[in-house]
Amino acid sequence: MDVLLTGGAGYIGSHTLIELLACGHRIHVADNFANSSPEALNRVRSLSNRDFAFSRADVRDRAALIALFQEFRPEAVIHFAGLKAVGEGEAKPLDYYETNVAGTMNVLDAMNAVQCRRIVFSSSATVYGEPEYLPIDEAHPLRPASVYGRTKHMAEQIIADWGRARPEASGALLRYFNPVGAHESGRIGEDPHDVPNNLMPYISQVAVGRRAKLSIYGDDYDTRDGTGLRDYIHVADLARAHVAALDYAAAHQGVEAFNIGTGAGFTVHEMLRAFSEACGRDLPYEVTARRPGDVAACVADPSKANRLLNWRAERGLPEMSRSAWLWQSGNPNGYEAL
Ligand code: NAD
Ligand code: UD1
Repeated sequence: MDVLLTGGAGYIGSHTLIELLACGHRIHVADNFANSSPEALNRVRSLSNRDFAFSRADVRDRAALIALFQEFRPEAVIHFAGLKAVGEGEAKPLDYYETNVAGTMNVLDAMNAVQCRRIVFSSSATVYGEPEYLPIDEAHPLRPASVYGRTKHMAEQIIADWGRARPEASGALLRYFNPVGAHESGRIGEDPHDVPNNLMPYISQVAVGRRAKLSIYGDDYDTRDGTGLRDYIHVADLARAHVAALDYAAAHQGVEAFNIGTGAGFTVHEMLRAFSEACGRDLPYEVTARRPGDVAACVADPSKANRLLNWRAERGLPEMSRSAWLWQSGNPNGYEAL
């Protein structure tokens, strides 16, 4: 299939790109490198031994997107491009609405211009907001508690309305839980530009000596050891979910949401222990106050994706931490040269 990836140079995009190339899809990546590096694409080329097209493009630029789509004429789009830092979204809400909401409308417009009818969208478990029950299924109420979460919820609704207006259209809204880990080669991985907000990249930077210690945000939650519990999913499993979603979109009409998680959760202490085992030493930490907005536990019910996408997460916590450590130890400064 001819597939256009917006944001294909990013963390999840680059891992998905490898999977798609291995399956023989013809790919065009469009990215403005707002939060990624051309080096990630170079490494995907050498790891996969396959080529793909690339355009430096901004999803906020509707005319440029339409021109790009007219040139490549994709049969499907995987729309990763977006801004994802929750705190930054509160400080710069209009930037988040422009990139995540208007950007998604531009992508749909460009699809319309070339009669492209299939889209796989990077959504997030954050659209659910505070869990009312666990595990969270797709019928759970959608009450996002941040600007970032609202941009994803709005983009989902726009895609669903676009789909309703076109009976032949198909869309998969993939609600990722907590993606972690790296490609098994350790050559590509997550490379946050600023201080990491998320747990796993923070632990990785402590392990490699870039940060002094992990702050554990509260150990008085109602979980098995008092620390926050999340559904961590290996990025390679997440990448495979996109391939499955493309196949599903090719065979079905309508827009569907899918939880992409494992169905199991780990606490902060368990993540720290697993990473310490992977890197061979105990990592320093201190327990600090809770982070505002955090919930005690968040776990997916992934049975809809298991059933309809014929996909399931296969990699466990040891593989998540081992691959993250291989990537971080081999690339202490990410894609930047030392
Ligand atoms: P990332 O920042 O590594 O990747 C996003 C990519 O989009 C980057 O390559 C960036 O340069 C590009 N981009 C940003 N703004 C752009 C613009 N205006 N035009 C073109 N390209 C632009 O993030 P990621 O972790 O790979 O996330 C991919 C998608 O998945 C995002 O939409 C994110 O919101 C969503 N998501 C991520 C997580 C997570 O924990 N990583 C969880 C849930 C959902
Ligand atoms: C965060 C985002 C969420 C996004 C998700 C995807 C926030 C408030 N939420 O959620 O929108 O969809 O990532 O990956 O940013 N922790 C520490 N110390 C740290 C970092 C985290 O103790 O330095 C704890 C947190 O309190 C939490 C767990 O680790 O219990 C996981 O945190 P994180 O990786 O930020 O993910 P989420 O909180 O699930």
